[in-house]
Amino acid sequence: MKRILFVCLGNICRSPAAEGVFRTKARAAGIDVYIDSAGTGAWHVGDPPDARMIKMAGKRGYDIAHQRARKVDLADFYEFDYLLAMDLSNHTDLLDLAPPNRTADIRLFLDFADCEARETPDPYYGGDGGFERVLDLIELGADGFLAHLDNESE
Ligand code: 4NP
Repeated sequence: MKRILFVCLGNICRSPAAEGVFRTKARAAGIDVYIDSAGTGAWHVGDPPDARMIKMAGKRGYDIAHQRARKVDLADFYEFDYLLAMDLSNHTDLLDLAPPNRTADIRLFLDFADCEARETPDPYYGGDGGFERVLDLIELGADGFLAHLDNESE
């Protein structure tokens, strides 16, 4: 079973949404995975996802209200097969934090998506449109990454 960690900055908007979307899609596809999410920053450790994201993800059928934020830690670089970064700065931060003998593959999430965008932009300081855009991109990324896992297992 593959182990996948979604990573953003605060772990209250993008990566918890990616965790919830991917869990739902993987379950529907019958693919058995272990999924978690974490932030490179510690401001929101222990907090539920941002209320705006809970509401908008919920409208699309993804229940993320029970999730709680945590910070990336050293063990993650060994215990997960993939660390999937939501934007380029999360990706760079993970590469900087990574121990030299880490076993996790550190990738940009949207590199698996069928879209032009490479980054899932931080919606925290913006309006509702930013959250919808993030969810659109995450759904594309989740479909692309599921296809990648499916190819890998063949
Ligand atoms: P996220 O968004 O990285 O998608 O969870 C953010 C949430 C909070 C902060 C930054 C980004 N913050 O600085 O508190």
